[in-house]
Amino acid sequence: MKRIYNNINLVNRNSFGVVESAATLVEFDTVDDLREYFADQQPRQWYVLGAGNNTLFTKFYDGVLIVPKSAERTILCDDGESVDIRVEAAHDWDELVAWSVEQGLWGIENLSAIPSSVGAAPVQNIGAYGAEAKDAITVVEYFDTRTMEVVRLNNEECRFAYRESIFKQELKGVAIILAVELRLCRTPRPNLGYGDVIKEVESRGGATLSNIRDAICAIRSSKLPDPKVLGNAGSFFKNPIVEREVAKRLLERYADMPHYPVAGDDTKVKLAAGWLIDRSGLKGYRQGAVGVHERQALVLVNYGGATGGDVIALAEYVCGEVKRCFGVEISPEVNIL
Ligand code: EPU
Repeated sequence: MKRIYNNINLVNRNSFGVVESAATLVEFDTVDDLREYFADQQPRQWYVLGAGNNTLFTKFYDGVLIVPKSAERTILCDDGESVDIRVEAAHDWDELVAWSVEQGLWGIENLSAIPSSVGAAPVQNIGAYGAEAKDAITVVEYFDTRTMEVVRLNNEECRFAYRESIFKQELKGVAIILAVELRLCRTPRPNLGYGDVIKEVESRGGATLSNIRDAICAIRSSKLPDPKVLGNAGSFFKNPIVEREVAKRLLERYADMPHYPVAGDDTKVKLAAGWLIDRSGLKGYRQGAVGVHERQALVLVNYGGATGGDVIALAEYVCGEVKRCFGVEISPEVNIL
């Protein structure tokens, strides 16, 4: 079944809580619904809207928002050690993590409490606390709007990288993700190397799945605003990747600047956008209805009644200040429509 809505208000469909609307929104259950819709309507402009946690609407969207509604979870194979599961796009990501923790399955516990649908997870390869969705994803299944066929990509074919995948590149405007397959495992493999994770896990009695989940949830909620209370889309900016020379020059001046290696490329260094924004003096900075969050400078928040344009104006100001102070370009992680 599919349901079509015209002239739809989006305020409850984006975690920023900005007041914008769209010409059309189509919710679909099956791939046949999609096939039928694309064959009949041939929409010239469309965008997949998951739970709306990483999208900023800046104006009336004069196209079709495609919203997956199927959320089934199936165990494909269980050999006593690895368990392969298939999860449809509309399934809530954190409910999947909670389920895996209850089942004693390792692999995605560090990705607890990330506001996302399962279908959105591979697009920007969601990541936190030393883990990324790509570490568990084996297959992504999508509907190709050019050929009207269902296509399956394996992990390598998805070309995952930091906040990147083929779905943000060649398959942007082509693929509608239907389901994701993941491989979890029963052998404990705690990944506690990031920041305060080990301390928080030990204070809860050691590295069990539920202690890790609880620790990550506690760390996140101490730093990141709850979108139900204060509109936001998590990190607004990506951590910038710069040439090693640039990082070296900055480190001579700012010895405490956080910096991380880039997997597979030792000519580059990843910096922390949150630190750069904070040290530009902008943590807690407010501009009318929007601001830089007071506990995590990576996050822009809507204090109520902001438009997408207000958020963009603030984002541009923040980028300009970081460039002026450090000479480093930062760019949005959020999809801007
Ligand atoms: N920092 C500051 N001030 C700030 C924020 C950060 O000085 O206001 C410093 C921290 O002290 C730390 C460094 O910057 O030394 C990095 O900060 P943090 O550990 O908080 O992580 P992050 O790089 O700011 C990334 C992800 C988050 C994820 C955390 C934890 C990106 C863009 N963000 O943030 O992801 O939860 O790591 O792994 O990669 C998201 O994508 O929405 C998100 C929240």
